[in-house]
Amino acid sequence: MLLHVKDNVYYTGIRDWELRRFHGHELSTFNGSSYNSFLIRDDKTVLVDTVWNPHTEEFLHMLEHEVGFANIDLIVINHNEPDHGGSLAALMQKIPDVEIVCSKKGEEIIRKHNGNPAWKFRTVKTGDAINIGKSDLHFVDMTMIHWPDSMMTFMTGTNILFSNDAFGQHFCGQSLFVDKVDACTVWAEALKYFAGILAPFTSLIKRKIAEVVAMNLPIEMIAPSHGCIWRENPLQIVGKYAEWSDDYDEGYVTIAYDTMYHATRSMAEAIGHGIESEGVPVKLFNTATCDQSDLMTDFFRSKAIILGSSTVNNGALRSLAGVVDEIRGHKLKGKVGFSFGSYGWSGEAPKHLQQGMEEAGIKILHDPVSAKYTPSQEELRVCHDAGRDFARAMKEA
Ligand code: FEO
Repeated sequence: MLLHVKDNVYYTGIRDWELRRFHGHELSTFNGSSYNSFLIRDDKTVLVDTVWNPHTEEFLHMLEHEVGFANIDLIVINHNEPDHGGSLAALMQKIPDVEIVCSKKGEEIIRKHNGNPAWKFRTVKTGDAINIGKSDLHFVDMTMIHWPDSMMTFMTGTNILFSNDAFGQHFCGQSLFVDKVDACTVWAEALKYFAGILAPFTSLIKRKIAEVVAMNLPIEMIAPSHGCIWRENPLQIVGKYAEWSDDYDEGYVTIAYDTMYHATRSMAEAIGHGIESEGVPVKLFNTATCDQSDLMTDFFRSKAIILGSSTVNNGALRSLAGVVDEIRGHKLKGKVGFSFGSYGWSGEAPKHLQQGMEEAGIKILHDPVSAKYTPSQEELRVCHDAGRDFARAMKEA
């Protein structure tokens, strides 16, 4: 039996309790995830999105037995990343004459992913609508949030916004609805999802939210393509997206370091104590051992990012190279920071880190801090004072 969503809308997605990594191995998903697909039973029976191809067999089995392939009249593909479009080819083998509704870019991507098939496409954009009986489907272009083909579908009558990736979370719970699971975890996952996947697109998201709000859609439910459905006060997640898109920070400092013999770690701790002496909260991470998705989430939430590494082979330890690249790629805005590290003879790491931070748009508020071999008490005092001075400068920045 299909899970009921609202009125004549049912759940045809796959809930992946075991998933621990997403986007290959890039993102951690400690609470699993789901690939949400929905079935609308109006005069026309409409399938909204498919699921990731490792689950194709299960998905098709469900459609065959709970819906019947012959009953599907229309397929809406809001976005064709394989976690949503991955089962389309297998489904189209069963129903090759059914029309696919997608954006113009969506058609291009579907064709490329599937060897330019002879399927029927109807391309749509913002302002277009399709009548399916008592309800209409309205489409909202979401270009580059986060793929060129992304769009959302709003269904009149039920007033459900099928938002695809937007407003999603990598979370698998005992219910489809946020109001029936541990909401704290869902909110934490929603923020992690935003920081990990959507942060590079905040300028576009800000404009898009204003555009969607101006459309005055009477949204009663937001059904994303990952995680739980927003049913009670669904616009609260839209409000959060507006907040997260607006140079977001929670005023604390994240210090991320890698260390060989604890010298750089002791510097990190001394800098942290100096920052705390000014009443500014601090979190510390070892970049070689921490979860990279959680680290990126903390960078996103922080006002300041401080990076440290011991010098090896005239540069920073390799875990920092990935971190600097990721900060650059995430285009975090409004962040401040500085760099530090221990060394034996040449000591280039803090300078390299500072250069990477500047390239990533982080405003440097303090010169790099270095200590030779094991930091002396005097050098640790210098680290403490650097943290203190940085916190003071940060408050004025
Ligand atoms: Fe959940 Fe962009 O795919």
